[in-house]
Amino acid sequence: MKIKNICCLGAGYVGGPTMSVIALKCPEIKVTVVDLNESRIAAWNDENLDSLPVYEPRLAEVVGEARGRNLFFSTDVDTAIDAADMIFIAVNTPTKTYGEGKGMAADLKFVELCARQIARIAKNDKIIVEKSTLPVRTAETLQTILDSTGNGVKFEVLSNPEFLAEGTAIEDLFNADRVLIGGQQTPEGKEAIQSLVDIYAHWLKPEQILTTNVWSSELSKLTANSFLAQRISSINALSALCEVTEANVDEVANAIGTDSRIGPKFLKASVGFGGSCFQKDILNLVYLCRFFNLPEVADYWEQVIILNDYQKYRFAKKIISSLFNTVSDKKITFLGWAFKKDTNDTRESAAIYVAEHLIEDGAQIHVYDPKVPEAKIKADMRYLWELKGFTEQKIEAKLNQIYVYNDPKEALDQAHAVAVLTEWDEFKTYDWENIFIKMYKPAFVFDGRNILDAAKLTDIGFRVKGIGKG
Ligand code: NAD
Ligand code: UGA
Repeated sequence: MKIKNICCLGAGYVGGPTMSVIALKCPEIKVTVVDLNESRIAAWNDENLDSLPVYEPRLAEVVGEARGRNLFFSTDVDTAIDAADMIFIAVNTPTKTYGEGKGMAADLKFVELCARQIARIAKNDKIIVEKSTLPVRTAETLQTILDSTGNGVKFEVLSNPEFLAEGTAIEDLFNADRVLIGGQQTPEGKEAIQSLVDIYAHWLKPEQILTTNVWSSELSKLTANSFLAQRISSINALSALCEVTEANVDEVANAIGTDSRIGPKFLKASVGFGGSCFQKDILNLVYLCRFFNLPEVADYWEQVIILNDYQKYRFAKKIISSLFNTVSDKKITFLGWAFKKDTNDTRESAAIYVAEHLIEDGAQIHVYDPKVPEAKIKADMRYLWELKGFTEQKIEAKLNQIYVYNDPKEALDQAHAVAVLTEWDEFKTYDWENIFIKMYKPAFVFDGRNILDAAKLTDIGFRVKGIGKG
C-alpha cells in the first residue's frame, strides 16, 4: 500500500521529532501528530519556534520547514485517525505506579486506549505501528482489541521501535544506525512492512532498514536499552573501585574501549544514568522475566538498576562526608538538572535523587540549568515526595530548600560546594577563578560528569572530587 496519510498518536519527545523528520523527508505524505494535551499541541503550533515543547538541536529548523506544508499538529484525534492509512502509536508507557506489577511493569493503559479509539473510529483498512516501547507480545493484545469490533476493517500491526537518544534526536533520525520493522510473516504482514520500509527509504539506505518478525522487534528494543544501561552500570561499578585504589576510571574506560570487541561508546562513568526509558525498560524486562518464571534472568538485569541507585546515593553521600559530615543549611549549587546535556527533559534525572538525599540532610540546593525552568524542577521534587506519601506541609517545607536561578553566577555566589549533575558544555567555560573567590572555603567541586579540568581547579584552590578518581 502506498501511504498518503499518516497520523501519530502522541506529540511527545518521540512523536514530535520522528514525525517532523518523516514529514520533512516525505513531502508527498500528509503527517498529522495528535495529542490529548492541548497546551502541548498549542506549543507545537506556536509561531515562535523557540517555544516548541521539546528542545532538540535542529528540531526547530525541521518543524519550520515542514509545518503547515505537510506536517500538522492537532487535538482532533478522531478526524486524524479516520483520515490515516498508517497510524503510529507514540504515547507514553511509564512504569506502573499502582496495582499488579506496581513499580515494575509498563503501564499500557494509554496504548490500549489508543487501540480502542482506533477500533471505534476506523472505517477503512489501516496499518498500526507500535512506536512506543512495549513489552514483547503487546502486538497480540493490540490486534485482539482492534479486531474486536467485527466491523470488517482489517488492521496490520507493525512494531517499529524508536532508537533515538534525546539531545541528538534529529541527527539520530537523519542518520540512524538502523531502523527496525517487525511484522507478521504473512503476505499481508509483509506488504505492510514494505509500506513502512518505503517511507524510511526516502532517506536511509536499504542496509539501514532491518525487518524481523514482530516479537523479535518488540524484544530488541528492551534488549538494546538494557545493554546500553548495563554498560553504564558496569563502568560505574568500577568507578567505586577506582576511587579506593587510585586507578582513574576514564583511563580504564579508554584502555578497555580501544579493544574493538568492547568499543569506546557508553563507557563514561557518571553520577548515574537518568532519562525516561533506561530504568523503565529494564524494570519492564525484569517483570517479564519473572512473569515467564525466569528468576535468574530477572535478577541479572535488576542488578543494573540496583547499581545505578547505589551510584546516585554514593555521590550524595560523598558530598555529605566531604563537607565534614553535615550539609545542614549549607549552600550546595547544582550545575545542571536535565538528565543529560542538550535536552530540557528531566525525567528520572540523577539530580532529582541526589537533591532528595541532600535535602533530607538539611542542605539548601541552589540550581542552575540552561534549559530547565524553576517550575519543572519543583514539580519533579513534588512528584517524588507525593509518591512517598509526604503531607502537603512537609512537601512545602522541603520545596523551600530549593532555589532556582537564571544566572549561574548568582547560583554559585557564596556556595559551600558545587556539584555538576549534567554535562552541559557551558560549565567548562565558566570563570572558575572568580567563582572560587566568591565561595566559602574550603571550596568543593563534586564533578558528577568528569567534565571539568580537575588539575586546573585544584591549582586554583578547589578541593575536587570526580567520579572514579582516587
Ligand atoms: P511523552 O510523555 O513525551 O509523550 C507521550 C504523549 O502521548 C504525551 O504528550 C501524552 O499526552 C500523549 N498521549 C497519551 N495518551 C494519548 C492518547 N490516547 N491519544 C493521544 N495522545 C496521547 O513520551 P515520549 O518520551 O515521547 O515516549 C513515548 C514512547 O516512546 C514511550 O514508550 C517511550 O518508552 C518510547 N521512547 C522514548 C524515547 C525518548 O527518547 N523519550 C526514545 C525511544 C522510545
Ligand atoms: C536512550 C538510548 O540511548 C536510545 O537509543 C533510546 O532510544 C532511548 O534511551 C529510549 O528508549 O528512550 P536517552 O535516554 O535519550 O537514550 O539518552 P542516552 O544518551 O542513552 O543517556 C541516558 C543516560 O545515560 C543519561 O543520563 C546519560 O547521561 C547517561 N550516560 C550515557 C552515562 O552516564 N554514561 C554514558 O557513557 C552514556
